[in-house]
Formats: sequence, structure tokens, C-alpha cells
Amino acid sequence: MAFPPEFIDDIRGRISLSSLIGKRVKLIKKGRRQTGLCPFHNEKSPSFSVNDDEGYYHCFGCGAGGDAITYLRETEGLDFTEAVTRLAEMAGVAIPDQRPVDPVKLQRRQSVMDALGAAAEFYKLQLATTPQAGTARAYLEDRAISDATRADFQLGYAPPAGLRAHMQSKGFDEGLLLEAGLCGRSERDNSLYDYFRNRIIYPICNRQGAVIAFGARAMGDAMPKYLNSKDGPTFSKSAVLYGWQQARERVRRNLPLLVVEGYMDVIAVTAANVAGALAPLGTALTEQQIALIWKLHDEPVLCFDGDKAGQKAAMRAIERILPVLEPGKSVRIAVMPEGKDPDDILRHEGAEALKAIISTAASLTDALWERVGQEFRLDDPTARAAFFQQVRDMVRTIGHNQTRQAYGDEIEHRIQSLRTTLRGGTASGQALAGTKRIRRPQTGAKARLSAMLSLLIAHPERIADIYEDLAMVDFGRLAGDFRLEEIKKEMLDLVIHDPDLDADGLKHHLSEKGHGQILSDLYSDDMIARLGMHPNDMATQKVGTLLDELLARLKR
Ligand code: UTP
Ligand code: MN
Repeated sequence: MAFPPEFIDDIRGRISLSSLIGKRVKLIKKGRRQTGLCPFHNEKSPSFSVNDDEGYYHCFGCGAGGDAITYLRETEGLDFTEAVTRLAEMAGVAIPDQRPVDPVKLQRRQSVMDALGAAAEFYKLQLATTPQAGTARAYLEDRAISDATRADFQLGYAPPAGLRAHMQSKGFDEGLLLEAGLCGRSERDNSLYDYFRNRIIYPICNRQGAVIAFGARAMGDAMPKYLNSKDGPTFSKSAVLYGWQQARERVRRNLPLLVVEGYMDVIAVTAANVAGALAPLGTALTEQQIALIWKLHDEPVLCFDGDKAGQKAAMRAIERILPVLEPGKSVRIAVMPEGKDPDDILRHEGAEALKAIISTAASLTDALWERVGQEFRLDDPTARAAFFQQVRDMVRTIGHNQTRQAYGDEIEHRIQSLRTTLRGGTASGQALAGTKRIRRPQTGAKARLSAMLSLLIAHPERIADIYEDLAMVDFGRLAGDFRLEEIKKEMLDLVIHDPDLDADGLKHHLSEKGHGQILSDLYSDDMIARLGMHPNDMATQKVGTLLDELLARLKR
């Protein structure tokens, strides 16, 4: 099999040569290289060297050398195709399929697609026109789904019976209805029954917009709440995302892209025009889905419930994403208030509330650092060492060499500054004295608090109003970054002494007091863009609304 050269390059870029070789050879880091005892000849002192940056190994003793492919060929006796296939599996990259397609299978698949399309039309018409869909129409109305949204997502209604007869009258035979997952066969009398009954229908479309499956929601207490098509010739749950076409349209209009949990979240977010939205179909995100999401947006925002299950899911998503990270691609992590999904927030608190949550979503690095940090007592040296170890281990799972190095550098930097903070705190006797444990940083807290400070720097006149609230909260501990507390205190101090201080004056004093670096982080164009604003907006009332939101969350 001939692989396209880009494919081979892609794989080389994703594989960490040192972790591949490290499975067999104990490697020690020496600058940019790692060295160890050569697996290709017998030696007592290490002359074997691995360069992750370039993806090559070399032995100065016996002259062996090559890349990941050569390595597998030489050590495991694989041929070229086998070596590439193995590496592709390790990197989670799909192997380009070059087998000729079976024309009979293709024809069959097309027939299933036709059946699904016809069924979607039937369900749609049911919802729009029949008396028996009255409850379904009322249900959607109650959930504030407009006619336009209903049409956009082709929502339908599956009556208690009727699809089978309709489809057969259109010439779709029993075998096809079974294969399409539209009908099941009764064990009692061998007859066909409709698979979806008395449910709201959410057609699931492929990226070209053709219906490939259905999700179906019960309106009452019928179980399960959602019934989904099983995997079949047109549909593989782990490779599909709900809402692709609508999301693509929103992203083209420069809106952010959210990855949410449910059908209704996709629909509500899309309808509110706050962002594009995609959802997996009731399962955790797969690598395949992550790759697809990155086709639409370089930095999608993954939304998770603030409850325990949601937080676990977030950690799992981070663990899945690290190995497949690519240059220029990342995610941000947003945490919803406990027990609420984006649809709930839009309905009960409005679009601005959701926007505030999106705009302060944590970067992947922050999320990783803060979440892993939460699991350890940072005032205990042993636990702290374990924390550093675990973050480093996670960073090591990043498959792409340069990306792994960049994350590694960032994490080392944070480890250093956390050490410094803790030393400083202990010496001055304040940060740690009396406290048995450092309050664990909350996820996204850093992003939120940073956003708040950026806005306050732009609007020092607002500080007086919320002075007490600001003073009471320890930004350093909450954010896991002591610099935020220092600059906050300085701001409060400056404003008390000069209530008429404007933004420029405040910035001037802050840099003079030695807060230049954190100030430029807080007041960068990047930060402003993340708040969903243009630099010009910073002088407007938009800021007030967002500040109120953030303050409300701070007090919660
Ligand atoms: P949720 O239970 O959070 O429901 O399931 P939801 O999306 O908020 O729906 P509403 O607002 O109650 O109508 C999240 C997702 O998990 C899958 C579905 O994809 C759902 O959208 N799910 C849930 C199932 O597949 N089966 C179920 O029985 C429940
Ligand atoms: Mn919901």
C-alpha cells in the first residue's frame, strides 16, 4: 500500500520518538537530546541518542540511526507498511483507505440513506400537520423552540404507529426498514413495528446535510429519555457530531464554537446566535470527533456541567485531547453552574450570562494545571512533588513533538513560580500560616478573575462600588496565581488614594509599581478578544454588564 507523503509526515510529527524508544530503553534527558544504552549493540556506557525535535535517533557507537519507522522495522522486524500502520494506531490517526469500494455495498448504503431521508420527511410532516402531534408541538413551544428553529433542525414527530405502512407504500421493503433502524421485528408474531414511537425526532445529519440517523426524545416519563439509532451502514456514533451544518454556518460568521452535551443544547445555543454548537451523541468525545471539531474551529470551547460527573468528564476530555494536540489547535474548557446545561442558562439567565461563561473559559494549560492541582494538597511537599509529577506525565502524553515541548516549558515555568510563591508565603508567614491546606484553585477561576481585573483596569471608576467584595476575595488563592492578588491589592490602594484615577492613570501607576508584566497579560488584545470584545468596546456599557455577571459568580 502506498501512503501519501503528507500522511507519513503527519504521523512522524505526532509520534514522540523518545516515548516510543523509551518503552525499551531507559533514556535520560540531556539538553534537547535524550541518551541511553544502545538497543542495537551491546554497550556499558550510553552512546545512543534520541532527538525528539527532529524525530531521529543515532548511536555514536555502532552508527545505527533513523526515525520512528526505521526503529520499528529494526527492532520489531515490521515491514514499512506495518510500521506505518502501527505508528498511525499509536497516534490515533486513521489510515487512508485505498481499497476499492464494493459497488453492491455502496448501492445498499444509498438505499438506506434514501429511506432515512423519506422517514425524516414523514416525521416532519407529522409534527407540522397532524392532530396527534399536538402534544409534541406544545412541548416544543413550551421549550421556546420557534418555527424557524424547528425547520432549521428538521425536527419531527414519530407517532405511536404509521411509519412502517407509509414507508412500504413508498416502496421501501422490510429488509431496508430493518437495516435503516427505522423498524424492529417483533419476536411474538414476526411483524415489523416502528422503532421510534410517540417521540420528538431530531434528525442527525452528516456533514453534507443528509440524514444518517435519528435521536428521539420522549415527552413524558417514558424511558429511555432519548432513543438513538444504532450504528449501521450510514452511521457510526463515535464519528458523528450533532449540528454540523448549523455550527459551520455560525463559525463562518465568526462566532465561537461550543461543544455541548445534548441535542437541546445545540439547538438552543444555535437559535440564540451566541455561538455555533456541536454535541457528541450521549458519549464522551472520541479522538475522531476532536479531529472533526478542529476542522471547524481552532479553539472550540468544551462545556461541562459543574457537578461531579461533569468535572470527571472534563478531565477525561483533557486526557483524550493531549495525545492528539496539533500546532495551532487547542480547546478551552468552560464550566456551567452546577446542574445546569447551556440550554438552561439561556432560558433562565439569558444570552449574556452564557456569553460571560464562554468568554472566561479556561485555556487548556490552565485547565490542566488547575484541575490536576485540585487533587493535591499543595502545602504538603510530598503531595506537591506528586502533583508536579502528574502534570508532567500528562504533558508527556502529547504526541506532537514541538507542542509537547511548548507545554512542557510552560508547565516547568509554573512549577518554578509555584515554588517561589510558596517559599515567599512561608517566609512572610502569611500565605500558609494557620491554613492546613491551600484552598484549591477552581477551574476557570483564573480566567474569570483575570477577565474581571482587565475590565476593572479599563474602568477604575467601577472599583469603588465593589470595593468590599473585591477586598474580601483572595484572587491569588482562587486563581492559583499570586500575582493577581498583588495587582488587585495595588489597584484598590491606588483607587482609595485617588478616586478620580482613570484607566491610563491606573495603568501608569501599576507599571511603576512593578506590575508591568502581569498588566500586559491582563490588558492584551488577546484577553480583550477572549472577552468577546473589540478594544473599542472596552469603553462602553458592555463592560458593565459583563462585570456584573462576573461579580455575581464570584459571590456565589
Ligand atoms: P441529558 O439528559 O443531559 O439531556 O442528556 P438534555 O440533552 O439536556 O435534554 P433535555 O434538555 O432534557 O431535553 C444529554 C445527551 O445524552 C444523550 C443525548 O444525546 C442527550 O442529548 N442521552 C441522554 C441519550 O442518548 N439517552 C438518554 O436516555 C439520555
Ligand atoms: Mn437539557
